[in-house]
Amino acid sequence: MTTQIEPFRAIAISRIAHQLKTEGRSIIHMEFGQPSTGAPPAAIAAAHGVLDTDGMGYWESAPLKARIARLYHDRHGLEIDPDRLFLTCGASPALVLALSSRFAPFARIAMARPGYVAYRNTVRALHMEAVEIACGPAEHFQLTAAALEALEPAPDGLIIASPANPTGSIIAPDELAAIAEVCARRRIAIISDEIYHGLAYAGPTPSMLEFAPDATVINSFSKYWSMAGWRLGWILVPPSLIEPVRARIGNLFLTPPSLSQHAGLAAMDSDDVLQRHVDTYRANRVLMLDALPALGLKSIAPPDGAFYIWADIGHLTDDSLSFCEQLLRDTGVATAPGVDFDPVDGHRFMRFSFAVSTEEVRDALARMIPWFAARAGR
Ligand SMILES: Cc1ncc(COP(=O)(O)O)c(C=O)c1O
Repeated sequence: MTTQIEPFRAIAISRIAHQLKTEGRSIIHMEFGQPSTGAPPAAIAAAHGVLDTDGMGYWESAPLKARIARLYHDRHGLEIDPDRLFLTCGASPALVLALSSRFAPFARIAMARPGYVAYRNTVRALHMEAVEIACGPAEHFQLTAAALEALEPAPDGLIIASPANPTGSIIAPDELAAIAEVCARRRIAIISDEIYHGLAYAGPTPSMLEFAPDATVINSFSKYWSMAGWRLGWILVPPSLIEPVRARIGNLFLTPPSLSQHAGLAAMDSDDVLQRHVDTYRANRVLMLDALPALGLKSIAPPDGAFYIWADIGHLTDDSLSFCEQLLRDTGVATAPGVDFDPVDGHRFMRFSFAVSTEEVRDALARMIPWFAARAGR
C-alpha cells in the first residue's frame, strides 16, 4: 500500500474563491504565498529576446549558475563553486532531490510545526518519517537548538526555514549558529530552505551555509524574484552529494525550461524593481499589524520576513477550515486555514498572505474588520 499524504487545503479555499469570482463576486486572494506582481520587465524582455533564436533544448545555463554563485558572495560573503549548484523547477523538486540524495527510506527528518505543508508530505511520500517539533509563541514559532538537543534519538536530518512559512519568523543568527553546532555534534544533516531570503523587514537573514558549510540549501525564483509560474530554482549541495544529485536530476527531472533560465538570469539584475516589491510588502505588513487590534487578533507570530501573518483565532473557532471558508463566502477574502501547516494545533490558526497590492490589503481589512467583530460578539 502506498503512503497517504494530505492535500493542501488552501487549494480548496482557492477553488471556492475562483467559483465565487465566476459568479461575479469581488475576491481578494490572500490564500497563497504568491507575489501578484509578475516577473521583472527585464526577465520578460530576455524571454522575448530568446524565443525566436533559442532551440529550447535541455539546457543548464552556466551563466545562471555563475550568477547564483555570485549571489552567495554578495549576500553572505561566501565563495561557492558553481559545480555544487543544480538548477531545478523551483524549490519543490529541489526538496525531493535534497531528501532522496541524502537519506534512505525510514530516515527521521525533523522540522518545525507549524511548517510548510510540503515538508512533512514530501518526507512521507519518500517513505521517510516526519518528526515534527512543536514550536509555539515562546520560541517565536521557530526551531531552537535546545529543542533539537532534546530530541531523542537524534533525527537523521533537519529541514529548517528562515524566514519561515507560514509564520514569516526569522531565526536569529546566534540561534542558527547554535543549531548548526548541535547538528554537527549529533550528525544531523541539514536542509535549509532559503526561499524567502530577500524578503526581510527586521534584521539579517544569514544563510545556513555561513554556520554549516555542509548544509544542503534550496532556493527558488518564486518569491523574491516574483516568478512562481516560471518554475525555476536551485539546490546547492556539499561536494559529497554532487554525484548523487546529478544522477537523480538526470533521471527524475532533467532541466528547468530554457526560457525560464534566460529570464531568471535577467531577473537577478533587477533589484531596483524587486526592492519596490519589498517596499510594498513592508507597507502591507504595517497595515496588517496596525489592524490586528481591530480584528481582535492578539497572538501572532513575529512576521519578520516573507509575506505572512500567522494568527491565533482560537477565541473565534476550533475549525480553521470552516472559518476561512465562511470568511471567504461572506467577505470575498480568501485566506489559508492553519490545518495545512499544523496538523495538531492548526484548527485554531489561520494564515494571511500580504503578497498582494496595498489597495487590496486596505480593501481586505475594510471587509474583514466588521466580520471579525461580529464573529467575536457571537
Ligand atoms: C517554504 C517554501 N518552500 C518551498 C516552496 C515551493 O516553492 P517553489 O516550488 O515554487 O519554488 C514554497 C511555496 O510556497 C514555500 O513556501
